[in-house]
Amino acid sequence: MSLESLEQDILAQVAAASDEAALEAVRIASLGKKGAVSERMKELGAMAPEERKAAGAALNVLKDKVAEALSARKAALQELALEARLASEKIDVTLPVRPLQQGTVHPVSQVWEEVVQIFGDLGFAVAEGPHIEDDFHNFDALNMPPEHPARQEHDTFYFNEKPDGTRMVLRTHTSPVQIRTMLSEKPPIRIIAPGRTFRSDSDMTHTPMFNQIEGLVIDETTHMGHLKWVLHEFCKAFFEVDDVKMRFRASHFPFTEPSMEIDINCSWEGGQVKIGVGDSWLEILGSGMVHPNVIKAGGLDPSKYQGFAFGMGLDRVAMLKYGIPDLRAFFEADLRWLRHYGFKALQVPTLAGGLS
Ligand code: DAH
Repeated sequence: MSLESLEQDILAQVAAASDEAALEAVRIASLGKKGAVSERMKELGAMAPEERKAAGAALNVLKDKVAEALSARKAALQELALEARLASEKIDVTLPVRPLQQGTVHPVSQVWEEVVQIFGDLGFAVAEGPHIEDDFHNFDALNMPPEHPARQEHDTFYFNEKPDGTRMVLRTHTSPVQIRTMLSEKPPIRIIAPGRTFRSDSDMTHTPMFNQIEGLVIDETTHMGHLKWVLHEFCKAFFEVDDVKMRFRASHFPFTEPSMEIDINCSWEGGQVKIGVGDSWLEILGSGMVHPNVIKAGGLDPSKYQGFAFGMGLDRVAMLKYGIPDLRAFFEADLRWLRHYGFKALQVPTLAGGLS
């Protein structure tokens, strides 16, 4: 067979190969060790030098042409295969989803939303602050100077020192948002600030990251009666009971004066906590009238402005409301736990439609 017809023959086979396996067979039959082109190469040895030179060059040209045709066909076949796959794996995104319950809304997210709903109804806006705080907002401005003993109780996570010797912290509470709000807004101020907080502490009831909610009201006439009313309304709405007894226990926080811890009545019958009945007490939050030093640090005149603040553990009230025993499970991302304690995605809490 002449070289030309060999070439035509092989190129026709390449063009006819309908998949990669067939193409590979053509490659082996032509360029493989015992392939047609290779067999011709072996014949070169028996030729006279002049003849060998011409035949060798022609064979090399043929070899290159075949190799090129093979790789072009291979690329084309791969593209065809991909197109076929894309066409066959097409899905109709307009099809209704199967009722497959995977994750659920985390109890903390649910309670967060519930609290926002309740305070929103009372005229509070939601405020935010950074997780990484400076000393001023987390401590100083909240009437906790460097030597203040309350600083030790916070088990603070510190960042490395900056060139100027100061260290940023992971905020130990949501109270710094009080300062940020006073510095950026004009009274009357009525905000809540739900968010993550951090302390180096870990056991059944403490995790290094937890959630708090801060509340702040500042204007010219707000007094403790308002504080009591707002928190009473909140507790009734949140625990979904007609009434709840509250005990305002004298306490101490550097940023409030006077300060109170608030307990609500409950019963522990059958090992389950029931809010609003019985005569046991359960502490649920800290509160007080905002300290004049804090109002001053917030850029406001304490002889003109006053108000109240409160701080509550979101995870803690989620545990109480939904009977969840171990705080640590909140942050373990265990799907079985979430399916048990979580909420359906479309079960959005509203005051009108019910919170839980
Ligand atoms: N920041 C306090 C803490 O994390 C909680 C707190 C107590 C906040 C009383 C307040 C308050 O605003 O009035 O322990």
